[in-house]
Amino acid sequence: MEEQNKWSQENYISAYKFAADAHRGQEVPGTDIPYIMHLSFVSMEVIAALDFHPERDGNLAVQCALLHDTLEDTGTTREQLAEKFGQYVAHGVQALSKNKDIKKTDRMIECIGRIKQQPEEVWMVKLADRITNLQPPPGNWSKEKIGDYLQEAVTIHEYLGGASGYLSSRLLEKIDGYRMYAR
Ligand code: NI
Repeated sequence: MEEQNKWSQENYISAYKFAADAHRGQEVPGTDIPYIMHLSFVSMEVIAALDFHPERDGNLAVQCALLHDTLEDTGTTREQLAEKFGQYVAHGVQALSKNKDIKKTDRMIECIGRIKQQPEEVWMVKLADRITNLQPPPGNWSKEKIGDYLQEAVTIHEYLGGASGYLSSRLLEKIDGYRMYAR
């Protein structure tokens, strides 16, 4: 029995419930679909990738995936995450959260710098997040905004792609598919 790479359904369920509650009433931007769909897709990408990384801590990866927006977008505190899910998850989610005190154009690179100090399970979540978000952009986005979003994805791929060949190539595919919207 190889168990060490496994994530548990119980851990998934507790993080999912927490996230569903924390993001209650929020919707995927530009849609009327509950926000939990985004978190389901990000965790699904991470779970698919874990098959290729049996040495990784699956529970850390999956819980950070489900909780990755709770600090940035809800009233959840780091202390609450630490108490319920442990310090590693709390640190991971903190690293995945943009620092709103710094200039908007610097936020992504600053965030990537903090993610790189975390275990690779956390890098995987950022890759999975951007894979999930490279959908056809909302109709009200300018070409400039789309181009910036594309460039951010290229930067994420460049700095964090090393954590997972699988997610890295999947992100690259999504980037290539997204280029048509930036033209
Ligand atoms: Ni996200």
